[in-house]
Amino acid sequence: MDPNGFEDVLNRFPRERTALLPILIELQEAHGYLGAEAIAAVSRHVYTPESEVFGVATSYSELRFAAPEGSAVAICTGLSCLLNDARELAASLTASLPPGYTVEEHPCRFRCDRAPVAAVGEQYVDRATPSSVLAAIGGSGAGGAAERDVPLAQPGEVRRLLARCGTVDPLRIEDAIAAGAYSGLARANGMAPAAIVQLVQDAGLLGRSGAYFPAAAKWSATRSYPKPRCLVVNAEEGEPGVFKDRHILELDPHLLVEGMLIAARAIEADDVYVYINGEATTAAARLQRALDAARARGMLGEPPLRVEIRRGAGGYVCGEESVILSSIEGERAVPRLRPPFPVEAGLWGRPTVINNVETLCNLPFILNDGAAAFRAAGTAEHPGTKVISVSGAVGRPGVYEVPFGTTLRQIIDVVAGGAAAGRTLRAALCGGPSGSLLPPALWGAPFAPGRLDDAGASPGAGGIVVIDDAMPIRDVVRHLTAYNAKESCGKCTPCREGTARMRDILDEPSGDARQRLDELAEAVTAASLCGLGQMAPLPYLSARRYFPAELFGASR
Ligand SMILES: Cc1cc2nc3c(=O)[nH]c(=O)nc-3n(C[C@H](O)[C@H](O)[C@H](O)COP(=O)(O)O)c2cc1C
Ligand code: SF4
Ligand code: FES
Repeated sequence: MDPNGFEDVLNRFPRERTALLPILIELQEAHGYLGAEAIAAVSRHVYTPESEVFGVATSYSELRFAAPEGSAVAICTGLSCLLNDARELAASLTASLPPGYTVEEHPCRFRCDRAPVAAVGEQYVDRATPSSVLAAIGGSGAGGAAERDVPLAQPGEVRRLLARCGTVDPLRIEDAIAAGAYSGLARANGMAPAAIVQLVQDAGLLGRSGAYFPAAAKWSATRSYPKPRCLVVNAEEGEPGVFKDRHILELDPHLLVEGMLIAARAIEADDVYVYINGEATTAAARLQRALDAARARGMLGEPPLRVEIRRGAGGYVCGEESVILSSIEGERAVPRLRPPFPVEAGLWGRPTVINNVETLCNLPFILNDGAAAFRAAGTAEHPGTKVISVSGAVGRPGVYEVPFGTTLRQIIDVVAGGAAAGRTLRAALCGGPSGSLLPPALWGAPFAPGRLDDAGASPGAGGIVVIDDAMPIRDVVRHLTAYNAKESCGKCTPCREGTARMRDILDEPSGDARQRLDELAEAVTAASLCGLGQMAPLPYLSARRYFPAELFGASR
């Protein structure tokens, strides 16, 4: 008996805990939400108590436990969309939507270069206006799964990873191969794994997720532990203002397939998991297709290497590496205590390398052209290029690729086209919602880890949101602090309580606001378990340094 029709979904999955999140996601897709009966059915299927299944499910912000009421138009109110009149759009729509429709505010949809962004059901409306949203509701909209914009290469750019984006059909492996794909893998297949690690060490490849940890060091550490080993590709990209991994996955998925196969050979991985953001539907579909095509051509070896794509289900913290491990294992989306580090005991206790998409996409170039050619771009300390996502108040938002050491001014004023018409730029937010706000006077600094100012500001994952004078700096800091407070998983008190207190003080700064914010910032930075809390006070700290009058004086 299956009155609810859950078995259709359940029967497609093994009765194992690792299948928990994929099952929950598919059941929600099939039924719209996860009711009590669905949770009970999943509990029986994976032999896990209902309370535990519910506990896991509630740790993912995209899972719903009640039927949606009416039809909602989602308006992104992330920073880049706010800077492009998202509030005015929401207000206008609230007044003009047909009966039965409501406006919902959503965080960043990772299309910040096309702000403001709305969504009607599954259909996105880019550069939304009230009339284009209403047209989408009426079924005549031109929104939806539009291809990513591929801006022309600009002065100062060096396109290595982006070379095939927009020039090769991402759905045809023949085209990718004709344009050079998989030649780096062929070289890697002719090398001993340890020699690949040495080559990557000579190239000086640093992880591109934001921490800039040397890739070869991580691989060597993992190789020092016995097999079986795992490679996890971090394609979660849940950081507002960052959309570069999706750009690559949608436009040149074979670059990542080749990169991950080279890394898998280097660490002699037995299993590969690619963890892709739940909203990155096109990226996941194109990667799956690219993988299938590569497998069919024998690129994954014989027998083929086991590569599985897993989808996330929301939350900034879901990109944190230990959360990805827990998620694949069917546990709550909450960071783990370390040590042990994943290189020693990662997925199911196996030695595991976790690398960002962009990190791995550098490997074909290194294998093809060698370490010296790789170092020909960038600085001695930070070799190579960085793929960046630029959005906000600039004339030419988009995904670009620049050598490390390029100045922020070159990026903002030349590559991204400078201020959009009629706008006056005030600051650049570098490093995401827990990044630093840097005034134009500092834009001569090199774009490189720890080099953006004297306090060691870093580019993070390469998100740059350029802010103009339409949004007061205190509102920007308040917005980012509120975001971090909302995304805190709640595991540790300083992050959970401290970020919320900071948000409240910023709402209504009284006489001793600065002292209280300073104390909280220090506590949250020092006592938080993971990077989310440790860096959450950075927008405040950088604004205190560079915009004190705006932060504590009368609002502009
Ligand atoms: C809150 C938080 C969110 C993160 N989100 C991502 C992410 O979306 N993508 C990513 O590659 N790394 C993310 N990271 C970093 C990962 O934990 C990990 O360091 C990274 O995947 C390592 O890749 P790399 O060495 O190639 O840079 C995040 C870290 C934190 C603390
Ligand atoms: S720092 Fe914040 S997000 Fe990270 S584990 Fe602690 S409460 Fe969770
Ligand atoms: S898509 Fe709206 S802020 Fe990113």
